[in-house]
Amino acid sequence: MNETKETKPWGGRFQEATNRMLEDFSASIQYDRRLYHQDIAGSKAHARMLARQGIISDRDADAIVKGLDEIEGEIRSGKFVWRSGLEDIHMNIEQALVDHIGEPGKKLHTGRSRNDQVATDVRLYLRGEIDRLDRLLLGLQQALLSQARAHQELILPGYTHMQRAQPVLWPHHMLAYFEMFKRDRERLRDCRKRTNISPLGSAALAGTGLPIDRMYVARELGFSGITANSIDAVSDRDFIIEFLAAASIIMAHLSRLSEELVLWASSEFQFIDLPDSLCTGSSIMPQKKNPDAAELVRGKTGRVYGHLFGLLTTIKGLPLAYNRDLQEDKEALFDSIDTVCASVEIMSVLVAEMRPIEGRISECVGQGFLTATDLADYLVRKGLPFREAHSVAGKIVLYCLSQGKELTDLRLDELRAFSPLIDGDISGVLSPEGSVRARRCPGGTAPERVAEALARAEGEIR
Ligand code: ARG
Repeated sequence: MNETKETKPWGGRFQEATNRMLEDFSASIQYDRRLYHQDIAGSKAHARMLARQGIISDRDADAIVKGLDEIEGEIRSGKFVWRSGLEDIHMNIEQALVDHIGEPGKKLHTGRSRNDQVATDVRLYLRGEIDRLDRLLLGLQQALLSQARAHQELILPGYTHMQRAQPVLWPHHMLAYFEMFKRDRERLRDCRKRTNISPLGSAALAGTGLPIDRMYVARELGFSGITANSIDAVSDRDFIIEFLAAASIIMAHLSRLSEELVLWASSEFQFIDLPDSLCTGSSIMPQKKNPDAAELVRGKTGRVYGHLFGLLTTIKGLPLAYNRDLQEDKEALFDSIDTVCASVEIMSVLVAEMRPIEGRISECVGQGFLTATDLADYLVRKGLPFREAHSVAGKIVLYCLSQGKELTDLRLDELRAFSPLIDGDISGVLSPEGSVRARRCPGGTAPERVAEALARAEGEIR
């Protein structure tokens, strides 16, 4: 049983059957069956075009379209029998068509190659998945905005170097992620433009001598245009690489957010509560409630980066035009899409359902001299050069540390001992509220700037 029983379309040239090991090694049907809808849509458009151009008869085209519709129904209902000896989705469907309708089925592959066919299928598929991912990202943006709205006045410690730095508004922090996902969606839209081009008609690599109409097929399939060079069209996978790059950046953003949720949910921070339904326990430590969903999103980021690098490496040494190496594009793409979509979905739920622990957050924002910059800025407004103001404020922080006090605990006379420029109007400046209120520059965390940003963001996704 070393040889296959399937007859191959290239049988004419061959005297031996395919080695069973090679058949298994080269089959892609286990995963590229995912493209069945796109493959059938492409074939139907191709068949109609062949008839319009007088290359096949209308009767044959009708039989092909009807046969393909039946096959699609069988695949949907799970009745279709996949044959790994027929390698891939293209040959499985073509052979099924011949089995269904006989002679006319043998005319479908006229003026076409699997090389332009597979490129077409993947472009159609990716176009749809980009749109799905875009909607999922919109859902995540909505979750971030509802979190922002729900606690509009909450002030939390902003960090640099993981050290408490300056107070920021909770909605400002949520909107930071909103901006990232907004750029991610722009990148997807841009990548979609280059994905949505029809390679069909490039045939094996050189085009075809038959009088086909590429524009007709492109229009039928909703493509915005046709590829300009047949050699490029069958060997280009950079539209996939672009998508994997965009997906990698999305995962990077999700991973940063995940990391913050993990930190915030820890006993050390206690900034948020995650619902039990979105956490898991430990099989040994009864007290544990783990933020596994966020950890898994962070962990899965590596998979998508890996696929990006994998495909870049796959194409780097390939001579033109099509080489079978290119078949390796699909698992990378499919797994990346599955991973990024599932990650965005779970993250949307996490963000929507987390609850900030306001008391604890407010307590932390009041400790650690987060308004020391405001003290320096105050002295600048009184005429002191910033470097000197920085130094005075630094000395006051040192004094606080030695006294076990916060800046807001200091009496006016204690403050004035460091600079006579400090006056009664310092009151309010050193509180977290005073600090955020002062940061009115565009893009800053002042309540009115944040309210504007929130309204703008809500308008953008409406
Ligand atoms: N399954 C193949 C792929 O995914 C389809 C194209 C095969 N072309 C060929 N000449 N063997 O790349």
